[in-house]
Amino acid sequence: MEATRARVLGIGAYSPEKVLTNQDLEKMVDTSDEWIVERTGISERHIAADDEASSDLATQAGRRAIQDAGLTAEDIDLLICASVTGDMPFPATACFVQANLGLKNAAAFDIAAGCTGFLYGLNLAQGLIRSGAYKRILLIGGEVLSRTLDWTDRATCVLLGDSAGAVVLGPAEDESGILATRIASDGTKAELLYIPGGGSRNPASHHTVDEGMHYFKMNGRETFKHATRNMAAIAKQVLADSGLELDDVNLLVPHQANLRIITYIAEQLGLPMEKVYTNVQRYGNTSSASIPLALTEARERGKLKKGDVVLMVAFGTGLTWGATLLRW
Ligand code: UT7
Repeated sequence: MEATRARVLGIGAYSPEKVLTNQDLEKMVDTSDEWIVERTGISERHIAADDEASSDLATQAGRRAIQDAGLTAEDIDLLICASVTGDMPFPATACFVQANLGLKNAAAFDIAAGCTGFLYGLNLAQGLIRSGAYKRILLIGGEVLSRTLDWTDRATCVLLGDSAGAVVLGPAEDESGILATRIASDGTKAELLYIPGGGSRNPASHHTVDEGMHYFKMNGRETFKHATRNMAAIAKQVLADSGLELDDVNLLVPHQANLRIITYIAEQLGLPMEKVYTNVQRYGNTSSASIPLALTEARERGKLKKGDVVLMVAFGTGLTWGATLLRW
């Protein structure tokens, strides 16, 4: 008998109220709406309020996903938060979220796989549910990337946004669930995309702050090359693993970093853009939140229905990348 798959029981997302447009950015740095739209597809992004941290956004998204699943806080037996912008170096952001939501029967921990964090979480959840170890897993991607940005650096500050997205996963009792999932990493390229300061390598000091080592740093062009190559390859691999054909895929929900990357992946796979969900235009790159946020919107807009086959693919710091094929 085939082992039990993990399926999505509920989903939810949360984005902070404040919206920062390209026109707002034109007043802050030497950039233009035209450049940002042409190079990234982004028009606006949401920015957390001063008193909002990653766990606050994650809490809102998690609460919505539990409600959507028709469950209560007591039903959740594991909480996984994917984030690279946790509230504090420790404890895990998941522990703050656990307290906020009253998940008293859950173990809680974080995973740090950057923009691939949500797909790392799905991969892990599939294994944990298959093994029978957990039955109701809340997986949340939540980021406040705006706090990591140098708002005088036009090469990075226009790209990112703050949001959270969540799913509740449980054993599948029908044809739905995760059909195939793969994750990968290449630590030799860690310095293409990183925050060098504030950890045990370069602990926070006047020096690290003066040097701006606490800011998000990226080699955009190199990251772009690796992102396109690795995402297209791993998406093809999960499709092959599942035994399904490209024509069986109803919707591609890629990590939302850059519309040019998304278009390239769709072309490489041979999928028309009508089958690709994009919302990078309105949220920017929200890292681990981007796929669950896009899934939530796609369902709200009637683009994701029971029985649909969804292909998800992501790429991020580490470097990390991954893909998951799922029947909704
Ligand atoms: O989510 C995880 C992974 N991250 C990614 O996937 C990001 C991957 N990289 C990218 O999406 C793109 O590389 C960027 C959008 C970051 C940059 O686009 P690009 O086409 O690679 O531009 P570039 O970095 O090569 O810069 C081209 C020019 C430069 O000027 P010069 O040297 O040609 O005179 C930049 O200084 O554009 C300039 N530039 C800007 N101009 C106006 C860079 N940022 C801006 C800006 N406004 N915001």
